[in-house]
Amino acid sequence: MRAVIIGTGGYLPERAVTNDQLAAEKGLDTSDSWIRERTGIGQRHFAAEGETASSMGAAACRAALAQGGADVAEVDCIIVATATPDSAFPSTAARIQGALGVTRGMAFDVAAACTGFIYALGIADALIRTGQATGVLVVGTEVYSRILDWSDRGTCVLFGDGAGAVFLRAGDPAPGDGLLSTHMHADGRHGDILAVDGGAGSTGGTGVVRMAGREVFKHAVTKLASAVDEALEANGLDQSAVAWLVPHQANVRIIEAMGRKLGLPLDRVVITVDRHANTSAASIPLALAEATRDGRIKRGDLVLMEAIGGGLTWGAALARF
Ligand code: COA
Repeated sequence: MRAVIIGTGGYLPERAVTNDQLAAEKGLDTSDSWIRERTGIGQRHFAAEGETASSMGAAACRAALAQGGADVAEVDCIIVATATPDSAFPSTAARIQGALGVTRGMAFDVAAACTGFIYALGIADALIRTGQATGVLVVGTEVYSRILDWSDRGTCVLFGDGAGAVFLRAGDPAPGDGLLSTHMHADGRHGDILAVDGGAGSTGGTGVVRMAGREVFKHAVTKLASAVDEALEANGLDQSAVAWLVPHQANVRIIEAMGRKLGLPLDRVVITVDRHANTSAASIPLALAEATRDGRIKRGDLVLMEAIGGGLTWGAALARF
């Protein structure tokens, strides 16, 4: 058995905050032009009081099932990638399972920061190939607005909240169809350059994101390039076969560099960072949801996904929709 992508769904909190609004609200010494030029970000969405990773994730799951014409009764596995869970436990996945009314199979969270969706997809792929799951919701959902230091203008302008999901069904697709391969990497030696300072089990810290932006940028360009090469090579494919690049949405300059590497014009790259900012594990499934709904990604298109995040973690996935 192999995984076939049946439906995608996204959820964005209602409140969109422009760069100017953010600067004014938080009293930041920054400007719209600085943020746009360095990152491509124009606005981000922030969750309302009471909205959580699980409530947004459940909404994205419902949208993915509806788009795929799938019934919630098919779901026997929910994997949630998040760095901002509602609580240490129950997992956000178990909370979503309860909200959807699913009572069978498994539900668990994956912690791989901005690479979380690629990791969750990789685990789903393995569970389906080994016959342990047949209907899997793979979810990325984040409320980074609750783990930002509003006095650190170098990080707080970069992130936003949101959720995305895909529904995978076990099937027997023709060779070259369905989810083709996933590639996951980590190098914990670089953990300190992008980290949450403190957390549920720590003895200190403040629980906010700390980042050495330039260091992360350097790792991003080289590690993402090697992950996409690996994905194409594993499938005996050339970059010319790729219809769409759906990258993690951290910074438009990194996204453009990857597009150039693949020889893809920017109109074959799905970009949401201008409107969503960096929604971490949610950014790829949110972009998939947008581009399948507006008709850009069509059945039969080869889609290359890639991400890098705290850990460091990074990876890529290749799927024919
Ligand atoms: N507004 C105005 N000035 C800002 C600012 C802001 N929001 N944030 C930082 N600055 C200032 C700094 O204080 C610094 O000023 P100084 O020279 O007087 O000390 C100057 O801008 C340059 O800072 P630096 O951090 O070197 O900028 P940069 O060109 O590297 O851009 C990032 C910063 C964060 C945009 C860039 O490093 C980046 O995108 N890195 C990758 C981050 C990423 O993708 N993370 C997520 C991965 S999942």
